[in-house]
Amino acid sequence: MIEISGLRKNFGPKQVLRGIDIAIAEGKTLCVVGGSGSGKSTFIKCIIRLLHPDGGAIKVDGQDITHMEDEYALAAVRRKFGYLFQEGALFDSISVWENVAFGLRYLSDEPPSRYREIAKQKLALVGLDNVCDLRPSELSGGMKKRVALARAIAAEPRYILYDEPTSGLDPIMSDIINDLILHLKRKLAVTSIVITHDMKSAFKIADEVAMLYEGNFIARCAPEEFRKSDNPFVHQFVEGSGEGPIKMKIRDLE
Ligand SMILES: Nc1ncnc2c1ncn2[C@@H]1O[C@H](COP(=O)(O)OP(=O)(O)OP(=O)(O)O)[C@@H](O)[C@H]1O
Ligand SMILES: [Mg+2]
Repeated sequence: MIEISGLRKNFGPKQVLRGIDIAIAEGKTLCVVGGSGSGKSTFIKCIIRLLHPDGGAIKVDGQDITHMEDEYALAAVRRKFGYLFQEGALFDSISVWENVAFGLRYLSDEPPSRYREIAKQKLALVGLDNVCDLRPSELSGGMKKRVALARAIAAEPRYILYDEPTSGLDPIMSDIINDLILHLKRKLAVTSIVITHDMKSAFKIADEVAMLYEGNFIARCAPEEFRKSDNPFVHQFVEGSGEGPIKMKIRDLE
């Protein structure tokens, strides 16, 4: 179980997370939505301690990891997680299968002789065959996304943090990824946090949807409730409307 209380994260004077309280129960999927720059990636980077929080507490399976500094202890916590980076973060200098297998030596007890086989199997799960020996630079954007997803699930983690798993994919591939997320949840009882802009995907895979706005979750409920919410911020987001209380600051670019 992941329990977060009073989580704060600043970048200089910018207060990105302003006291987040949320718990994700075992085996559940939380979808986090919110505008660009609202702090969604920052939120999950804090959970896996790629960022150091400025306040509050993060507990994983009852263990407080907020200020954990010991590299071995942190590595043991990270072994529980799969992480899909928003940008994919693949290494162009190694092959696709080596990318997928990259974390296995830290994250699993599998012998190296099995790495290629495991990578192949995970690539097949995300609908990729015959790409093992290619370089990431030879793949389309959507294929890279799926390779990154295969890497996130390679060590069969208990928790998976997905940062926009369907962005840049066509609608059919998006739905295949949605089904894969549901499959991992149902068959392997994985607990997940999924950041997405894709409301269709959120409504399909989430047990709960939470919306991040100005550093806090302003709504958190079951998908059906979220869809019908009369909170004007949520409503505007669900409708994808330029009109409403959320003002996008295009002015800032001037
Ligand atoms: N390492 C960093 N250093 C300084 N500022 C940062 C850093 N990472 C994020 N920020 C700032 O924090 C804010 C939140 O960024 P974050 O990437 O978490 O947003 P997001 O909700 O994931 O956005 P998007 O939907 O565009 O991915 C932004 O204003 C961003 O500029
Ligand atoms: Mg982001």
